[in-house]
Amino acid sequence: MPLPVPGTPESVAPTPRLRTRITELLCIEHPVVQGGMMWVGRAELAAAVSEAGGLGIVTALTQPTPADLAAEIARTRRLTDKPFGVNLTILPSINPPPYDEYRRAIVDSGVTIVETAGSSPEPHMDFFHEHGVRVIHKCTSVRHAVKAERVGVAAVSIDGFECAGHPGEDDIPGLVLVPAAADALTIPFLASGGFADGRGLAAALALGADGINMGTRFMCSEESPIAEVVKRRIVEATELDTELIFRSLRNTARVARNSVSVEVARILADGGTFPDVQGLVAGSRGRRVFDDGDLEAGIWTAGLVQGLIHDVPPAGEIVTRIVREAYEVLHANLAMFRA
Ligand SMILES: Cc1cc2nc3c(=O)[nH]c(=O)nc-3n(C[C@H](O)[C@H](O)[C@H](O)COP(=O)(O)O)c2cc1C
Repeated sequence: MPLPVPGTPESVAPTPRLRTRITELLCIEHPVVQGGMMWVGRAELAAAVSEAGGLGIVTALTQPTPADLAAEIARTRRLTDKPFGVNLTILPSINPPPYDEYRRAIVDSGVTIVETAGSSPEPHMDFFHEHGVRVIHKCTSVRHAVKAERVGVAAVSIDGFECAGHPGEDDIPGLVLVPAAADALTIPFLASGGFADGRGLAAALALGADGINMGTRFMCSEESPIAEVVKRRIVEATELDTELIFRSLRNTARVARNSVSVEVARILADGGTFPDVQGLVAGSRGRRVFDDGDLEAGIWTAGLVQGLIHDVPPAGEIVTRIVREAYEVLHANLAMFRA
C-alpha cells in the first residue's frame, strides 16, 4: 500500500496495522510502547500514546505518594478509554519508597498492565498474577530476560546499550541484543533503546522483536511535560551528545552531555566515589532541568537516539508516523528486491 500524500483525501486514511504478539497481548492497535520515564510519564503523555493506538505508560514514582498515583491513573482514564500501563521501577535505595503501597494503588485502580524495571520482578509476580496484571519486565540482558520469562512475566522489554537511562554493564547494542533475545525467549518482547522512526520499528520486527519501546522520542513530544528548551536541545543534539556516568560504580546511566555530567564522569574516572558526586547528581537538580529549563542545573536522561529526533510533534503523531513508515519500509521498499 503506497503512503498517502499529505493534504490529499488519502492522508486521512487509517494507519496500516502491524499486528504482532504484543498488539494481541496488550489489546492495542500498534506495536509501539512509551516506556516509563521519571518526571515525564504523566497522564497527558501516556493517554496521548494510548489514544493513538500505542501503549502509554504512567510512571509510578513520579507521583509523590501512592494516593497521588491513584489520582494520576484516574486522570489518565479520563483522557483515554484505551489500555495504558504503569511503570514501577524498583531500585535498591537507603530510603526505599513504599513499593507495596504503590503496587496496591496500581491494582486498586484497575490497571492490568505493569512495566517493571530496576530489579527482578520475581517478588511481585504472585501479587500481580492474583490481580490479573500482565507484567512487561524491562531489562538489559538476555539472561535477565530469560529469568523474567521463567518467573512468569507476560512480555519483556529489552534495552540495548543505546538506551537512555540504565543500559546495564554488558554494553551490547540492539543489533545483537534483539536477535539474541529472539533466539532465547518464547514470550513476546519489545526492542528498546535507539528507536525513533519507522526504519527502527521495521528493523526491530525483522530482528525478531514484537514491537518497540521508546523513551527519548516521546520525551520530545507536545504532551511531554518538560520545559520546551529541553525538547529543543534534544532536537539540536546529535548521537554524540550523551555521557555515560556511574561506570565505575557498576550502575551506568546514559544521560545528556552537559557541564554536570562531564564533571561527574571525570570525578569518577579519576578515582572518585559516590559521595564525591552525590551533590552533583541530586534528583532535585535534575528536576530543575525539566521544570525550569535550566539545561546545566543537573543531570538529565536522554539516549543516543536524540541524533535521529528532528521535531516535537504530538505523541499520537509519533505513533502513527512510525507505523506508516515501518509499513512502507516493510511492504513497499522491500518489493524492490523481489525478482
Ligand atoms: C527522561 C527519561 C526518564 C526515564 N526514567 C525511567 C524510569 O524511571 N524507569 C524506567 O524503567 N525507565 C526509565 N527510562 C528509560 C525508558 O523507559 C526507556 O527504556 C529508554 O528511554 C529507551 O531508550 P530510548 O530513550 O533510546 O528510547 C527513562 C528514559 C528517559 C528518557
